[in-house]
Amino acid sequence: TRVLILNGPNLGRLGVREPDVYGALSFDDLRERATAWAGESGLDAEVRQTDDEAEIVRWLHEAVDAGAHVVLNPAAFTHYSYSLRDAAAQVTRAGLLLVEVHISNPMAREEFRHTSVVGPVATGTVAGFGFDSYRLALAAIAGRLAADKP
Ligand code: DQA
Repeated sequence: TRVLILNGPNLGRLGVREPDVYGALSFDDLRERATAWAGESGLDAEVRQTDDEAEIVRWLHEAVDAGAHVVLNPAAFTHYSYSLRDAAAQVTRAGLLLVEVHISNPMAREEFRHTSVVGPVATGTVAGFGFDSYRLALAAIAGRLAADKP
């Protein structure tokens, strides 16, 4: 089962960027861990990152066309990108799973981070557990597919 693990702007700067919030590990570390966790859950994952909104929109279209499930960290796009929301909605409307993830807990941070325009069209959200948010999201996808029920 194929899963695209898509990451938005500034996440390529992990380890350098606000390590007190996002930790000391790099995006390459995240890629390595997420790929291994997917394997443990019996999933075949591909990890990508871009700072470009249009590119994530295209990747979400690709997920729909390829029948791939999605783990999405929309980063700052979470809070205002209706084009990302509309693209994410196509994934879940196609019957595919889309889990929104965040490394930090946006609800415990600035007011502008309390709104997610993606959350309402996601299958579910995991936030606040560091890189483990991705592990939990992958386990949730595997669990849902195994149970084949809501
Ligand atoms: C983030 C939280 C967002 O508010 C922020 O803009 C990010 C990262 C997270 O993973 O905690 O860039 O999505």
